[in-house]
Amino acid sequence: MTQPAQDRRDVQYGTAVASVYDSLIAPALPAEAAVDRLRPCVTGARVLEIGVGTGRVAVPVAAIAAEVVGLDNSRPMLDEFRAKTVPGNISLVQADFRAPLPVTGPFDAAYSTMGSLACVTDREQLTAALSHVRDVLAPGATLSLEYYATGTYRPLVAQHTVTMPTPHHGGTTTFTITLDDRDVLTMGTRIDEVGKPPVEFSEHVLLIERDEVEVCLNRAGFTVEHVYAAESPQPYDWYTARATK
Ligand SMILES: C[S@@+](CC[C@H](N)C(=O)[O-])C[C@H]1O[C@@H](n2cnc3c(N)ncnc32)[C@H](O)[C@@H]1O
Repeated sequence: MTQPAQDRRDVQYGTAVASVYDSLIAPALPAEAAVDRLRPCVTGARVLEIGVGTGRVAVPVAAIAAEVVGLDNSRPMLDEFRAKTVPGNISLVQADFRAPLPVTGPFDAAYSTMGSLACVTDREQLTAALSHVRDVLAPGATLSLEYYATGTYRPLVAQHTVTMPTPHHGGTTTFTITLDDRDVLTMGTRIDEVGKPPVEFSEHVLLIERDEVEVCLNRAGFTVEHVYAAESPQPYDWYTARATK
């Protein structure tokens, strides 16, 4: 399914990041840990992934869920996913989570990994996006949310530029990190592989404290049941919340 009106909204993940996501980015965060946490919520369930990307998590989740609907507003990311073998119980929807979701609920569970839902400009937009998710969930359904951990990212803002070896690969990755006065973190990434032109892209995410994420979840109609706080240098906190009845 495509949603032409959504194409007019800004899309953060373009062809540059999509071209290196599976080879250079996904290997740094193996999906197993996320799937282990999701297992009790998604086994045998009808599941929605928000910001499905290239299917790093959706593919192993589909092996234990009844059905997975993966939503993303990036055509290049979805094209990368479609170029692989998409399991028969996954359907992909190109849509923006900042608008009401064009999917048919109710879902038993939803999840969003690697901070996809943080791609918003302010707390109101995050609350609205979470409300759109809540609208298609069954009462009592779970939302599992990986969200940027301030304890890890604020020190990186202070460092401003960080260069490290690209995990599981030759070459280096350089991050340039800034935070504006509206709490929008901009992370520029430049990947240098020997013998290849550099790949550059940037992300803009809302960096807010855990209690503020919980307020947004509560306002959107969720009760937070558990927070697994990241231990630096882990990038994300993990929230398990339940749609209020
Ligand atoms: C860091 S990637 C994570 C992909 C996947 N969940 C994973 O864990 O590998 C973030 C994803 O969120 C998607 N995304 C960002 N903003 C979005 C929006 N407004 N609506 C829908 N998807 C969005 C991006 O296109 C991208 O695929």
